[in-house]
Amino acid sequence: MTDLSALSSLPDDFLWGAATAAYQIEGAAAADGRAPSIWDTFARTPGRVANGDTGDTACDHYHRWPEDIALMRRLGLGAYRFSIAWPRVVPHADDRVNPAGLDFYDRLVDGLLAAGIRPFPTLYHWDLPQAQQDRGGWPERATAERFAEYTAAVAARLGDRVTDWATLNEPLCSAWIGHLDGAMAPGLTDLTAAVRASYHLHLGHGLAVRVLRETVRGARIGLVNNLSPVRPATDSEADRAAAVRADGHVNRWWLDPVLGRGYPHDMREVYGVDLPERDGDLDLIAAPLDWLGLNYYFRQIVTADPTGPAPYFRQVPGPNPEHTAMPWEVHAPGLEELLLRLTREYGARRIYVTENGSAYRDTVAPDGTVHDPERTAFLERHLAACARATAQGAPLAGYFAWSLLDNFEWAYGYDKRFGLVHVDYPTQRRTIKTSGHRYAELITTHRGR
Ligand code: IFM
Repeated sequence: MTDLSALSSLPDDFLWGAATAAYQIEGAAAADGRAPSIWDTFARTPGRVANGDTGDTACDHYHRWPEDIALMRRLGLGAYRFSIAWPRVVPHADDRVNPAGLDFYDRLVDGLLAAGIRPFPTLYHWDLPQAQQDRGGWPERATAERFAEYTAAVAARLGDRVTDWATLNEPLCSAWIGHLDGAMAPGLTDLTAAVRASYHLHLGHGLAVRVLRETVRGARIGLVNNLSPVRPATDSEADRAAAVRADGHVNRWWLDPVLGRGYPHDMREVYGVDLPERDGDLDLIAAPLDWLGLNYYFRQIVTADPTGPAPYFRQVPGPNPEHTAMPWEVHAPGLEELLLRLTREYGARRIYVTENGSAYRDTVAPDGTVHDPERTAFLERHLAACARATAQGAPLAGYFAWSLLDNFEWAYGYDKRFGLVHVDYPTQRRTIKTSGHRYAELITTHRGR
């Protein structure tokens, strides 16, 4: 077991949370006026998602949220990060707000507040309404503008009770994996579309920040990025240059413009795609934030790949044999490194680890328990990394475990289980895993010290 005495360096008011996302848990895909998102379409396209899984039912959280809040209370959570489904709120191309879609989040927020749990909604976690994709999606500027309109509708309904807001979750995945690698919705492999999507995601973020500032008094607003420390596979000049490009692709492109540094020049050259910039955009994109969200899963070890496509690198396995079921390398020091980088290089003044977690092959034992020692060790080691970073000055204010529940893991379907709570999908029975019990114990210990 990891020595967790170091956790004492976490601040007294450290926020202990767990995270989920709408399409991954809600189900009820056609309820109360929701229309399809790009993920409904993608999941229905043969060969895109393992086993042909879809989010149609998922964890049925749309109906079972009271039970799920009760689980959060049993874990002792102080905050819950969830996402709001744009296709519930503005389902169609007529851009009309669907009040019944907002009602669900109203109920959820009230339930959380009644349970003493701080709601941390994210406005966009990848489920673009298909109607917006049909009008061009993120490669088009109008999508950013419509994102701001949707944000206004959500803020008007929830802003009297919700203070903590995230605009986007992992825009890297929307742009690079969705438009360049093609492994996520909308499934494109088009560099120009990907770069334009990245720009309009940032613009949408900036416009949404402006709306939230205007609508929600005392709003505390952040952006959630998934970042990775990058290392060259060898000491060759080519691999070292590949590592600089990889760092630009996965880290700097996503941090620099938002934090007022503009888009990295080296990466503009590597992509060779003109950004659809207009006067004033960069100021909007760099609107001041109250916190930065960091999602951390793995580091990247990269080698040069001169035959492309841009940005001409690929990930290779490192020497460490320890992997989760994804299979991603287990490397907790990477979390410490990123927290310190955000602090020292980017001047972050408040950071939340908005996601961190691991998938393993969990099974329910005959006595009904779910014993997950690897996930428990993963959790402890990453929390210890948080504490080390805090002791060195990182302004870390909270940690959200990914995920509260096993759920729909995008192109991997339901096979990959990330939850602190096991979900038996045929019965929707929830069982707190050993890792969940351990998390609860750590939370109690930290609070009671
Ligand atoms: O499940 C995802 C989540 O939606 C975004 N961050 C990474 C998680 C694990 O892959």
